[in-house]
Amino acid sequence: MDIITARDLTVGYGRTEVLRDLAFAIPEGLITAVVGVSGSGKSTLLKTLAGLLPPLGGGFEFAGSPVDYRSEASLGRLYARIGVLYQDGALLNGLSLYENVALPVRMHYPELPEAVVRDMVHAGLAQVEMAGSAEKFPSELSGGMRKRGALARALVLDPHVVFCDEPSSGLDPITSRLLDDLLLRLKESFKMTLVVVTHELRSIERVADRVLLLNDGGLRYAGDYADLAASDDGFIRTFFLRKGHHDDA
Ligand SMILES: Nc1ncnc2c1ncn2[C@@H]1O[C@H](COP(=O)(O)OP(=O)(O)OP(=O)(O)O)[C@@H](O)[C@H]1O
Ligand SMILES: [Mg+2]
Repeated sequence: MDIITARDLTVGYGRTEVLRDLAFAIPEGLITAVVGVSGSGKSTLLKTLAGLLPPLGGGFEFAGSPVDYRSEASLGRLYARIGVLYQDGALLNGLSLYENVALPVRMHYPELPEAVVRDMVHAGLAQVEMAGSAEKFPSELSGGMRKRGALARALVLDPHVVFCDEPSSGLDPITSRLLDDLLLRLKESFKMTLVVVTHELRSIERVADRVLLLNDGGLRYAGDYADLAASDDGFIRTFFLRKGHHDDA
């Protein structure tokens, strides 16, 4: 089943269209990698699918219902079922890791008693193996730990779909691989659907079931990762067959 279906979807800012007339589906329970060169619109697309940036045209369905940006109830239903790891959305420095992870809970469910919040935060931190660091502040964590902390914040509401924008950028290859393993575990053990923006070919190769390749204001490829190898599209081959390179981040 497809959890997200986009039709004639145009995304951008004001009068600037970044991607035009996209049609694609994101299947449930799999990892879809969103790829493309810098500036191709990956973050813009992710923001629109996450309910943060209204489409300029067309639209998309989430779990079978159209997402209506003019309806708070419709956006609320979307927010309740997704988690987002932002590209630059680091943890807030003034708050402990615990308070950072608790933020989405406090925002969306202000009436929950603290004991319940605490259980949710600890469950989120346990999923990223950071149970022992709840009281630390972001400045006391390594870059990889901060990424995992931000991932815990994206997971705290037990989302159906997790959007991750460049989860491993700026990390060394080993830490980056651990993060990929974590994403695979979310898919395999928790049956989550993941939509992951990434530049790293190794990471795509390791985690992606599906690929959306953005180029020149549109979709250049939407399909199984496994089918890419058979493509004779010159752009696709140049993009994906630079294996062994460490990528521009
Ligand atoms: N807030 C904004 N207002 C206006 N234009 C924006 C805004 N954010 C991004 N853009 C423009 O939209 C286009 C796509 O940007 P986007 O951030 O989606 O690219 P990206 O594929 O995520 O790039 P990167 O790999 O560098 O993160 C760029 O031309 C960018 O300048
Ligand atoms: Mg981006």
